[in-house]
Amino acid sequence: MCGIFAYTGSKNAGPLLLKGLVSLEYRGYDSAGVFMPESGVVRAKGAVAELRKKIPKNFTGRSGIAHLRWATHGEPSEKNAHPHADCGGNIYVAHNGIIENFRELKRALQSKGHTFRSDTDTEVLAHLIEEHMAHTKKFEHAVLTALHEVRGTYGLVAQCKANPDKIVAARMGSPVVLGVGTRERFVASDPSPIIPHTQKVIFLEDGEVAVIMPTSHAIVKLDATKVKRGATTIDWGAEKVKKNGHKHFMLKEIMEGPEVLENTLRGRLVLEKGRAKLGGLESVAKELKKIERFIIVACGTAYYAGLIGEYMLEEYAGIPVEVELGSEFRYRSPVLNQRTAVIAISQSGETADTLAAVREGKKRGALTLGIVNAVGSTIARETDAGVYNHAGPEMGVASTKALISQLEALVLFTLFFGRERQMSLRTGCEIAQELKTIPEKVAVILANHGKIEKLAKKYAYARDFLFIGRKYNYPVALEGAIKLKEVSYIHAEGYASGEMKHGPIAMIDKKFPTVAVVPSDSVYEKNLSNIHELKARGGPVIAIATEGNTEIAKIADDCVYVPKTIEILSPILSVVPLQLFAYYMAHQKGLNPDRPRNLAKSVTVE
Ligand code: G6P
Repeated sequence: MCGIFAYTGSKNAGPLLLKGLVSLEYRGYDSAGVFMPESGVVRAKGAVAELRKKIPKNFTGRSGIAHLRWATHGEPSEKNAHPHADCGGNIYVAHNGIIENFRELKRALQSKGHTFRSDTDTEVLAHLIEEHMAHTKKFEHAVLTALHEVRGTYGLVAQCKANPDKIVAARMGSPVVLGVGTRERFVASDPSPIIPHTQKVIFLEDGEVAVIMPTSHAIVKLDATKVKRGATTIDWGAEKVKKNGHKHFMLKEIMEGPEVLENTLRGRLVLEKGRAKLGGLESVAKELKKIERFIIVACGTAYYAGLIGEYMLEEYAGIPVEVELGSEFRYRSPVLNQRTAVIAISQSGETADTLAAVREGKKRGALTLGIVNAVGSTIARETDAGVYNHAGPEMGVASTKALISQLEALVLFTLFFGRERQMSLRTGCEIAQELKTIPEKVAVILANHGKIEKLAKKYAYARDFLFIGRKYNYPVALEGAIKLKEVSYIHAEGYASGEMKHGPIAMIDKKFPTVAVVPSDSVYEKNLSNIHELKARGGPVIAIATEGNTEIAKIADDCVYVPKTIEILSPILSVVPLQLFAYYMAHQKGLNPDRPRNLAKSVTVE
């Protein structure tokens, strides 16, 4: 949510900054802006393409800061675009987060004669720094003192005209990554725009400020004590953040499914013992033995992964599970103790509500575990232990490949805890053997994408959709609906098949199609009855069914088949056609699924 990118070195910074912003566009695209001390500032409403149009030919320099905005305070407009300046036009700040006490700070600064030009909370930072520059010669001291006065969250970069080489970056609640190159340094909200230049990165922690020059950097805490931290190497290359011939990241990432699933599994299955080896949990092995209850916390698509995980862990590991939205958990008074483990599921590892739930869990004495994709992210660092998805960077705003890898990780958790508790060797082996075949089964579904594209053409007329499913595939229906809403703006509702007759069936007519997720599992017959109920009301039905089921083809209007598998693994297969369906529906409507309106990939505000 909001993207920042900054550079200091000897190259021409302009094109470099714009390129960096493009790879951050999934974080926000309400407005874009760039400041280069040697050339000035340019801002534009909209995404990077609009900014590019406004950049003059002589806009050059060897350093600069750039920003993409996802609006919180102040409408999306050029006036509110970052970087924001002080009164003198010497200090510029690009910021991700929310300055909660900006109103009082603004009033105080105005009474001292500062003139504000935007409606944003960020602008107070530039004026505060200006105020403190009067008492110090060092820019970084002024930034540090200003930060002592603000309350809220920030991931920020600041520069002043007098020191064009220097960038000051700071973090409190919103991610900041420093890229260490040879005679050049980068700062960004996440590693993706840095990776094409260097794989050596340093993640700033909350309450840290970095003073960055082309050939050096120093990190201090807000109280000015020095921090020593070496760089870590990111193990994915630049090709991972490109579209590789696909029109959109969303499609590219869905198509990466089989490879992603292989990567999540690599080295973690002990087939002959029906067990999972999760090195990331070893450090808390003793504590895990005492765990009597899990609370899964997550947001968005990751929350639906959690709901599926609840079915898995309760059925096979016999451990009670609750699944909570991050945004709700922290405001209740959850009853936790040392025998509770809070499992956070998050692709980005930065979602503010999920992070707050982890902190709440810790505060209340629970063990905290993570299923996180982004290596080195805040949730990965703050949880007591956990596993990485190894799904590679996910750039599409709508989560796709991360979801299937989260589901796979949850199956691994189920084997891990199940075999320690009630799961037999036979069941463990059956799940492990079948899990091994899942990547190639996903490849079979993906090869059939043409059929789903045709279905999207056929149903492009629909203004509403219902998605239904039961048991393991009930959350899949919820996910199918959110995916369609997110990228195609078609109204969609996900419902438990059995609940349909308690409300949504009233809406059904011949223009209101239903996608029914009905694999051949223990609840297939019940699902079939619900499909009959829909057909009796004239509603069109698209069935996601198991290969070889000829019966369903006679009842449903259209069928998409997925390979046969065991029930616990069925969501990993049945969700893939729904992801493709949402993608092709957006495509049908001429929308860019990588940039759904009003959304951002990494939601770092509450
Ligand atoms: C945003 C994205 C969703 C994602 C959710 C949680 O809303 O658009 O696709 O599921 O955040 O993100 P996380 O990074 O915590 O998995």
